[in-house]
Amino acid sequence: MKYFHIIIATAIILAMFGCNSPEENGRKSQVILEMKRATDFHSYSHPEEAVVTHLNWNASVNFDDRIIRATAIYDIDASDDAERILLDCVDLKIEAVTVDGESVDWSMGPEQPFIGQPLSIPVNGNSQRISIQYASAPSAGALLWVEGEQPFLFTQSQAILARTWIPCQDSPGIRFTYEAHVDVPVGTMALMSATNPTQQSEDGHYDFRMDQPIPSYLMALAVGNVEFRAVGPHTGVYAVPELIDASEYEFGEMENLLVAAENLYGKYAWERYDLLVLPAAFPFGGMENPRLTFATPTIIAGDRSLVSLVAHELAHSWSGNLVTNSTWDDFWLNEGFTVYFEQRIMEAVYGREISEMLATLSYQGLVDEVDEIMDTNPDDTHLKLHLQNRNPDDGMTAIAYDKGYFFLRLIEETVGRDGFDKFLKAYFTEHAFTVMDTDQFIAYLKENLLNSEELLTAVNMDAWIFGAGLPANCPQVRSERIESVDANLIAWETGTMATEDLPWKEWVYQERYRFLSNLNDATPAERMKELDATWNISTTGNNEVLFAWLEQSIRSKYAPSYARLETFLINVGRRKFLTPLYRAMVETEQKEMALSIYEQARQNYHSVATGTMDELLAVD
Ligand code: BES
Ligand code: ZN
Repeated sequence: MKYFHIIIATAIILAMFGCNSPEENGRKSQVILEMKRATDFHSYSHPEEAVVTHLNWNASVNFDDRIIRATAIYDIDASDDAERILLDCVDLKIEAVTVDGESVDWSMGPEQPFIGQPLSIPVNGNSQRISIQYASAPSAGALLWVEGEQPFLFTQSQAILARTWIPCQDSPGIRFTYEAHVDVPVGTMALMSATNPTQQSEDGHYDFRMDQPIPSYLMALAVGNVEFRAVGPHTGVYAVPELIDASEYEFGEMENLLVAAENLYGKYAWERYDLLVLPAAFPFGGMENPRLTFATPTIIAGDRSLVSLVAHELAHSWSGNLVTNSTWDDFWLNEGFTVYFEQRIMEAVYGREISEMLATLSYQGLVDEVDEIMDTNPDDTHLKLHLQNRNPDDGMTAIAYDKGYFFLRLIEETVGRDGFDKFLKAYFTEHAFTVMDTDQFIAYLKENLLNSEELLTAVNMDAWIFGAGLPANCPQVRSERIESVDANLIAWETGTMATEDLPWKEWVYQERYRFLSNLNDATPAERMKELDATWNISTTGNNEVLFAWLEQSIRSKYAPSYARLETFLINVGRRKFLTPLYRAMVETEQKEMALSIYEQARQNYHSVATGTMDELLAVD
């Protein structure tokens, strides 16, 4: 606990002696910032009093009652005057707690919505190890248990759901190493965000190690009948037998992405980069669990056209997993940097034409979302968020991702790419395995890159970080291919271009998506029929294109698509698709259809998806 003591002691000394020189004032504000960094309104933990450093997790996973029974043994670092250590819990049944082998009188504090309860364990400055025996609830928010012939379990811990399956200091600013010993049903493989097996064990027992310290939101577990295939020396895929061949092909370029990423911002810190294809119920496109990205099967298109998602999750190995947002208010430091890095990887591997098409789509998504948020809660369009007393999930909008991206792109365009790359490489190297908050990043940026009035004025940081909407100096993206799609769309809509003359066959997915997602809301059903009859859009294997087609079908009330819509919504739990589709039904007076599909589909969805859909459809 020396670290926090030094900070606090220095702060007191500085306050007592009233430092005045600019240099000392700089140091003082740095110290105060460091103290502030520990404040995470979404966690009960008080790391300055006592903090976890290593977890030894022993668990058994039971599909019959949907319970994980486990013992979490933590090494801790307690300050001299520590009286307790606080951990976050949601719906965990605590059975026994010991400190250095002795049973203790633990207590559970009052519950707050989504934050849960503090588990308070009495310790003192000499305490070294705590052990908590517990069971998770069948309804644990992080877990999705898929039943049937092929049982599957996966976790999704980000942002604050790790506490629903492990009692932990669930704050992104607190890192720990871990080892785990997990028992699962014979015939399934267990995988974690750690060293992983490549073959199923005979007895259902698996051991794991994560020797690099990670925050709790990167704790991950998956259990299912999966196989492994290597696709490169440091890369491979896991998937169920039916998807393993398709996955091996789809993600066959992962090693190239990894090499491109290392060439940009330095050595990959996690040894291996593998990807696990999850059941379609996974609520996200991807999740950057260290060493093992979790991904939706909806990116398997058969032609590698959706790999930018892999570039994104891989990029998190630097932005997020190595340099981590201090609290969820600083989420843009994780996601904005990652979108920027993703685009750079895509440019390096597939060329600027493709990455600029992606940037154009991201710009359109951003403008739409800014408009929408400005109507309800303009403060949520600031990069720096204020999520106190709110669910951090509220901050998961295009702002962190795409406004963050365009802000970084603006800096790149202002200082030049070479200078920005050098800066970013140093940023990741100097801050590896530490946390970063927005104020600290601003200070680092001013000191190391934007070091003149001229540059500061050109970028206008305040408008981006603390201001609403999209600042006037937002970089312009131009993609000739996308412009040509837009011209074709106008020609088709005004009747000067026939359906069979559209260059659909030559278009890649980004162009097809642009066309479909920009169709006029009032496109009549007959014209939808014409499009499908000519180009077989409804049978596409590309789920992004299918999604855009289904959304437009709802708006056009094109009933022949509704059977496909229903099976899609029952099988796929990816929130990015669900929200616009259910919303389109609500907005076009087809809420009854939405409710009837949701009634069948809800049981297949993960809690982060049902949370959003329940609200959207006003179900309780
Ligand atoms: N880390 C995020 C997913 C996330 C964020 C989960 C916040 C829970 C809370 C992941 O890296 C991500 O951004 N996924 C995107 C994909 C991407 C290409 C933008 C997704 O799932 O859509
Ligand atoms: Zn991300």
